[in-house]
Amino acid sequence: DMIRWFPGHMHRGMKDLEQSLSTVDGIIEVHDARIPHSGRNTQLYQRLVGGHKPHVLILNKSDLADPNYLNKSIEYIQSEQPNTQVIHTSLASIDMKEMTNLFGRLLQQIVESPRYTRSSTVEYNIVVCGIPNVGKSTFINKLRNLFANKASCEQVGASPGVTRKMSEKVKISNRPKVFVRDTPGILEPRLKSADESFRLLLTNSIPIQQRELSDIIADYGLFLLNKYDKQRLYMKYCELDKPSDDILPVLLSLAKIKHCTQIYRDKRGYDLTGTALHFINEINKGTFGQITFDQDILDEKENEKLNDTNL
Ligand code: G4P
Repeated sequence: DMIRWFPGHMHRGMKDLEQSLSTVDGIIEVHDARIPHSGRNTQLYQRLVGGHKPHVLILNKSDLADPNYLNKSIEYIQSEQPNTQVIHTSLASIDMKEMTNLFGRLLQQIVESPRYTRSSTVEYNIVVCGIPNVGKSTFINKLRNLFANKASCEQVGASPGVTRKMSEKVKISNRPKVFVRDTPGILEPRLKSADESFRLLLTNSIPIQQRELSDIIADYGLFLLNKYDKQRLYMKYCELDKPSDDILPVLLSLAKIKHCTQIYRDKRGYDLTGTALHFINEINKGTFGQITFDQDILDEKENEKLNDTNL
């Protein structure tokens, strides 16, 4: 059952996040740029952000998304959530200078938000959240590095009185004074359709718990590659001379190339489950090109807009 996988400790994490929100000045949510629609937890926005908290969304892993769809993704989210500021980036490859700029922009957007309630701008309490595997820890680590450098020249230390208000661990810089919760809030991905579940499985935001299902997930991945005209790279990688709508010949060819004969063998001696997992992993790593899995949703939205203006 793909819908009910969310573990108990994550539910507690969500509760914890909700409680801490009353003491934060701004929320930085991280999400995967390849799925601007799928898995977005709109509950956070409706219940907590909509009315009262500045909310900035980082669409991360932009290196893996289709460049033609980055701005469309931002427009899509801002049309659904007008109180959210959206920025896209690739945290994995960002350097210190870019990170300084990014964090400066994030702070600015939080402070300039009409929902920013503090009268003075000397101190910021920020919480980072998002669904699993979108880059929350990467973000916090980069921030930690940024502040570690500053701290070494400015001798910044924790002031115990303020620290205890948030959680045990906060990262601190003095100029400006910034408090960021060390542990990110983990949001439960919202799965409104089978397509969304598959897209989250392909981006590793929900784990594949039943290996036996990996060929179905790989088949869905292949379906999207074909649908979005991204046949060239998978054909090359799997040594196929034409695109295939059927996952089996793709996996058989790949199994031969990769010598996947180890664990679950089929009658021909190939480990098709292991090969399917390999294929899924390559999709997620970007081996078959930059893909925006929610491209169809963005296209639909654009068509609606065009029809509206033509009427
Ligand atoms: P989380 O805290 O939200 O769960 O995510 P985390 O930072 O652990 O990042 C999840 C994976 O995504 C990590 O790969 C990380 O390196 C990768 N990642 C983060 N930002 C980017 C980005 O901008 N571009 C790309 N291409 N990758 C990014 P990992 O540790 O290898 O995990 P896995 O998902 O590959 O198993």
